[in-house]
Amino acid sequence: MKKFIPWSQAHFISNEKFHLNKAFDSTWISGGEYVQKFEREFCKYIKSDFALSVNNGTSAIHLAYLALKLKEGDEIIIPSFGYLAAANLALLMNLKPVFADVDLETFCVDLNSIKKKITKKTKLIVVINTYGNVCDLKPILKLAKLKKINVLEDSAESLGSKYYNKNSGTLADIGTFSFQATKTITTGEGGMVITKKNKKFKYLLKLFRNHGIKKTRYMHIVPGHNFRLTNLQASMGYTQIKNFNKIIKDRRNSYDLYKKLLKDEKGFKLQKFDRNVKPIVWTMAIVLDPKFYGKRDIIIKKLLKKGIETRNGFFSTNRLKIFKQFHSKDLKNSDHLSKNLICLPLFNGIKNSEIKYIVKSFLSLRK
Ligand SMILES: Cc1ncc(COP(=O)(O)O)c(C=O)c1O
Repeated sequence: MKKFIPWSQAHFISNEKFHLNKAFDSTWISGGEYVQKFEREFCKYIKSDFALSVNNGTSAIHLAYLALKLKEGDEIIIPSFGYLAAANLALLMNLKPVFADVDLETFCVDLNSIKKKITKKTKLIVVINTYGNVCDLKPILKLAKLKKINVLEDSAESLGSKYYNKNSGTLADIGTFSFQATKTITTGEGGMVITKKNKKFKYLLKLFRNHGIKKTRYMHIVPGHNFRLTNLQASMGYTQIKNFNKIIKDRRNSYDLYKKLLKDEKGFKLQKFDRNVKPIVWTMAIVLDPKFYGKRDIIIKKLLKKGIETRNGFFSTNRLKIFKQFHSKDLKNSDHLSKNLICLPLFNGIKNSEIKYIVKSFLSLRK
């Protein structure tokens, strides 16, 4: 039978089914006790005193924008290389996305680029912790404090990663997470928002999550959304966060094997993680040198023929048609990554033999 290795695959290692059935049997399938249980366990793991579950990672960012009371014309600095949720929402809310460039090796937003993009209208800086990395937040937070600008850490791809021993998502004013099917823990669709901001802000997050209802049913005091996570989904999240150490161990082993097999090989560069970062790598990102590999999209096709599904990196967001009016010429690194980055399969449960086959196939395509 022909081998097929998906780029990502959901993998359940614990008693998810037991808790899912329990939630199902309880007949509480919208809200229910697992929602609070998941939020509590998440707080415990991440070491935060506040976590609010939502129906996906995009809603987590949306909720933060609403609670920050961002209004038309407010500027948000967003890296041009990274998943586009933060930028998309800015467009949707008539905010102005201002794109900053990223570092070629870490794929993290570049401090100097942020400095150039700050204006009097800047209300928020979004940092995206891409592929499990954690950006160098200390200088960014220092700058933001000086300028009185909030920072949101989009940690959808970096749950469990650490920066100076602190959890990704807990460093900035607001942290957001996604539990979509390919993420390190999954609830199918789902997300979480955490914050270090004050009580009023936490209250606003809760308010906008639930149609703007303060307390009394059907008494809506602001226009809000329904961003709630279901009890069924929360039961899966609860189980996985409780067993997160097993998941981490598995992912670390897979990443270490990739690293070992790719060490000393030329023609590409692996994503770089700074000394102070202890990553839980989300996907095996590799920047190809075109001299050795030619066009990235051809490599993707050739690997697929060998039964290996891979992914291209993100398109440089500012170059997408929908962001035409926010295009900027000084985003060269984002452009380079957008053309030359490939993501090899790395997921909970991938077998060592599969990784060996992927690496052998990948190296065989080098000129
Ligand atoms: C960095 C990043 N931010 C936000 C999101 C949005 O999350 P979701 O798909 O759960 O809405 C994702 C994932 O898809 C992501 O990778």
